[in-house]
Amino acid sequence: MSPCVTASMDDIHFEHTIRVAQVVNIRAKVNRAFNTSMEVGILVKCEDLFSDRQWKVCHAFATFVTQRTNAGQKVILKPIVPQTQSELLKHSLAAERRRVRMLHDDIIKDLLSHRSFQQDGSLAAGDAVAAEKTKVESVELVLPPHANHQVNTFGGQIMAWMVNVATIAASRLCQAHPTLRTIDMFTFRGPSQVGDRLLLRAIVNNAFKNSIEVGVRAEAYQEEGPNRHINSAFMIFEVLDDNGKPCILPRLRPEPLEGERRFQEAIARKKIRLDRKYIVSRKQAEVPLSVPFDPRNQVYLSYNNVSALKVLATKNNWRLTSEKDKVQLYTLEQKSMLSFKVEAEVDVPAERAFHLLAELSNRPRWDMHYQKCEQICQVDGDDFLYRVVTPSVQHGSVASSTSASQGEGNLQDFILLASKRKPCDSGDSYVIALRSVSLPTHPPVEGYKRGEVLCAGFTILETKSNMSLISYYNQASPEVLPYISTDIAGLSSSFYNTFCSCSQYLTKYRLQSFSEEQPGQQDRLASTHSPSREGGAERLSETLRSTQL
Ligand code: COA
Ligand code: ADP
Repeated sequence: MSPCVTASMDDIHFEHTIRVAQVVNIRAKVNRAFNTSMEVGILVKCEDLFSDRQWKVCHAFATFVTQRTNAGQKVILKPIVPQTQSELLKHSLAAERRRVRMLHDDIIKDLLSHRSFQQDGSLAAGDAVAAEKTKVESVELVLPPHANHQVNTFGGQIMAWMVNVATIAASRLCQAHPTLRTIDMFTFRGPSQVGDRLLLRAIVNNAFKNSIEVGVRAEAYQEEGPNRHINSAFMIFEVLDDNGKPCILPRLRPEPLEGERRFQEAIARKKIRLDRKYIVSRKQAEVPLSVPFDPRNQVYLSYNNVSALKVLATKNNWRLTSEKDKVQLYTLEQKSMLSFKVEAEVDVPAERAFHLLAELSNRPRWDMHYQKCEQICQVDGDDFLYRVVTPSVQHGSVASSTSASQGEGNLQDFILLASKRKPCDSGDSYVIALRSVSLPTHPPVEGYKRGEVLCAGFTILETKSNMSLISYYNQASPEVLPYISTDIAGLSSSFYNTFCSCSQYLTKYRLQSFSEEQPGQQDRLASTHSPSREGGAERLSETLRSTQL
C-alpha cells in the first residue's frame, strides 16, 4: 500500500473502435513486482448490449513505480507469488518485457542516429499538405479531478489530452475523422501536479499511404519557472471508408530542418513499430521461421525466442510418453504441431548446469546430433548466434557421424539465435532458448541442407541444494521429428541415451570453478581467433550495418 506513478506504457494497438452506447470492460492485474516497479497488464474489451457480442479492443502493459517516502527512501514492493499456470506465465514474461522496455530508448536512439537510414525515404512531393497547417497547441490547467490523492496528475488524463490534440492535427491533414490505431511505447519523464499548466503541442510528422504519424510533446509549467518536459508520444491514425477499409491519405510536406528530421525519424519509427508488432505481439507460431536477423530487431527476436520457450514450458497438457531410469519423455500435441520435452533431475547446481549448457559450442561433446557448433557472434551480453551442423535424417533414422562426415550431402545446418537468461528471482528457471534466424552473411551453402528450429531449448530449475531439474524442449520441425518419432513410438530410447550423455557431461564438469578452463575452451579459442572466423564476424556486422531498412 504505497502511492505509485505511471512510469511508462508499452505500445498500445487498438484493434477495434468503441462506439457510443457500447459498454467498455477493463480488467487490470499486476503481473509482477520488481523492486520499486511493477508491470500491470490491462485488457480492454467492448460489449454490444443489443447483440450480446464482446470483442477485444486492446491489450496494454503499464509500468508503475512506487513514490519515495518523504525522507526520500525508495519503497520496495513485496514480490507477487503467482498461483495459477497463467499467472506463472505472465509473471515470467513480464521479466522479458522489462528487458525490452529498458532497451527501448537505446534502440530508438541507435536507429535514429543511423546514417544509412537518414538517407532513406525521399521527401514528399510538392502538391503535398504543408505540415504547418496541421500544428495544434493547447493548454490545460490541472485541476483536482485530474489528479490522484497525492495531487499528481493521472497518467491516463495526460494521455487523453495528448490524444485530443493529436486527433485534431491528424484531421487537419486528412480532412476527415481519423481513427487512432497505435500509440508507441512511451515514458513519463517527470511528474506534474494540480495547479500546473500543461502545454500540449502536436504536428503531423509524416503521412504514409494509409497511416499518419502525429507527434505530441507535453510540457508542464507554473506561473514562474521553466517548462518541464513531461513526455512525448507518437500516435498512428488511419482514416476508414464506409466499409472499414483504410483510405489513401494526402502526403505531407515537412517544415524545413526540424520538420524534415521528424519526417525521416517517423520512417524509422514505422520500421521499428512493425518489428515490435510483428515479432513481439504475434504468437510464436505466427512469426515465420528464420526471421532475418538484424541488430535493430534483435531485442524483439530475443523476446520472441524466450517467450516461445516459456509459453511451451508452461503448457499444462504435456503427456508422459515414456520413462527410463527417471528420465522422462513427454509429448504435447497442438493442432498440427508435435512438441516433446525430456526431463530429469541432475546432481549439479542449477547455475553450474546453466553455464555448461549455455556454452552451445560444447554440445557436440555430449549430443551425437550436434556434429559441429560454432559461434558466429555475440549480439549482446545474453544473446549469441551459432551455426550448428548436424547429420541429416536418413529414412527415419539419424545418419551416423562417420557416414555423415564422409559425404557433405548427408549434413544439414542451422543458424540459431541462443538467448540465455538467468532467473530474476528464486522461483524462476534459468532459460536457454533457441530459434532459427536467417543471416545475410550465412546463406545456405552447397552440400548442407538448411534446417530450421521453431522453438527449442532448456529450462533449469534449482530443486534442492546442488540439484537441478533440467528440461529440454523442442517444437518438432520436420527436420527433428524423425529423431524423436521412434522414441515416441517406443521403438528406441535415444532421448534417454542423449540425456544420459548430457548428465555425464554436467557431472564431469560440475566441480570446476568458472575460472578454470571450460571444457572445449581450447578448441573454441582456436576457432574464435582464426582469421576466417574473425573475418566472418566483421563481415557480419558490416553487412548487417549496411542493410537498408
Ligand atoms: N519504463 C519502465 N520502468 C521504468 C522506466 C521506464 N521507462 N524508467 C524507470 N523505470 C523503473 C526502473 O526500472 C526502476 O524499477 P525497479 O526499482 O523495479 O528496478 C524504477 O523505475 C525506478 O528507477 P529509478 O532509476 O530509480 O528512477 P527514475 O529516476 O528513472 O524515475 C520515475 C522513474 C518513473 C519515478 C520518474 O521518471 C517519474 O517520476 N516520472 C513521472 C511519473 C508520473 O508522474 N506519472 C504520471 C503522469 S505525470
Ligand atoms: P522530436 O522533435 O525529437 O520528435 P520532441 O519531444 O521535441 O521530440 O517532440 C515530440 C513530437 O511533438 C515531435 O515529433 C512533434 O511531432 C511534436 N512537437 C514538438 N514540438 C512541437 C511544436 N512546437 N509544435 C507542434 N508540435 C510539436
